[in-house]
Amino acid sequence: MAANQIRTYQNAVAIVTGGASGIGRALAFELAARGAEIVLADLQIEMASDVAAQIRTAGGKANAVEVDVTDYAAMERLVQDTAESRGRLDYMFNNAGIVFGGAMNDLNITQWNQVIDVNFRGVVNGTQAVCPLMKKQGFGHIVNTASMAGLMPNPLNVPYAATKHAVVGLSNSLRVEAAHLGIRVSAICPGLIRTPILEGGKYGGMNMNIPVEKLRDLWEELKPIAPDVFAKKALNAVAKNKAIIIVPSLWKAIWWINRLSPALGRAVASSRYAKMRKEFNL
Ligand code: NAI
Repeated sequence: MAANQIRTYQNAVAIVTGGASGIGRALAFELAARGAEIVLADLQIEMASDVAAQIRTAGGKANAVEVDVTDYAAMERLVQDTAESRGRLDYMFNNAGIVFGGAMNDLNITQWNQVIDVNFRGVVNGTQAVCPLMKKQGFGHIVNTASMAGLMPNPLNVPYAATKHAVVGLSNSLRVEAAHLGIRVSAICPGLIRTPILEGGKYGGMNMNIPVEKLRDLWEELKPIAPDVFAKKALNAVAKNKAIIIVPSLWKAIWWINRLSPALGRAVASSRYAKMRKEFNL
């Protein structure tokens, strides 16, 4: 086995931020099932430790570290400790994210800053922390979890959409810049995945006067899929080094509409938003 090549995924070493819950948790299980060793980095350390323990019980390799992705020094330590103890780092999944949903006038600047700090600065921190190491190794894959909200308008979710557009921009630009160093960069754009974030998640919230049952019905209309189904498809695409990874495929059609005619994309978003305003008096 070549020492200076990325491993897919047998005996690879991967860091997954936001690995305690939802998509990160599912990516960790699937990576472990494919033979990778995982370091789960999350603020929710008990849940992350539980995921790691389950992976180990199933015969895999994993451990959990309490890390805040907004803290650059902590992210740098995480990367250095992982690479030093395992001798390499194949994958950096910058996946932790939060949302504060609601109309602009119902959001405050603290919520804006939290979303920017976790969703964008967190990805910047993870990316900046691994680049020198991956350059030295001559290989590595940075996989940033963006969103369909990074590819199209997303009313009632403006701060989130802004950060996810930024993650797509970072990933696309760095992908071109870092390719000659052997560093791969991909942006994962999940459509809708059934995880706690859909109801605000642990560190975010919904500043909207919509009953939780109604919110669930709204999400169901958009056909959410299970995180484990998502993880399998996303990792297949990561293995192929795809630039923009959209899962489930249904959302690829919506991406095409937005690329072919941004005006049509805005019209579709506008009509859905009008429906919500009417239904919920927003
Ligand atoms: P989740 O709420 O289940 O998981 C998010 C994880 O990030 C949690 O474990 C949380 O503790 C962790 N986290 C939050 N702030 C952190 C911080 N400062 N430092 C370290 N860890 C932190 O939500 P989900 O759905 O699994 O989200 C994962 C990623 O997928 C996010 O970036 C989200 O924006 C993105 N995404 C999710 C979609 C969905 O439909 N569920 C759709 C599009 C994107």
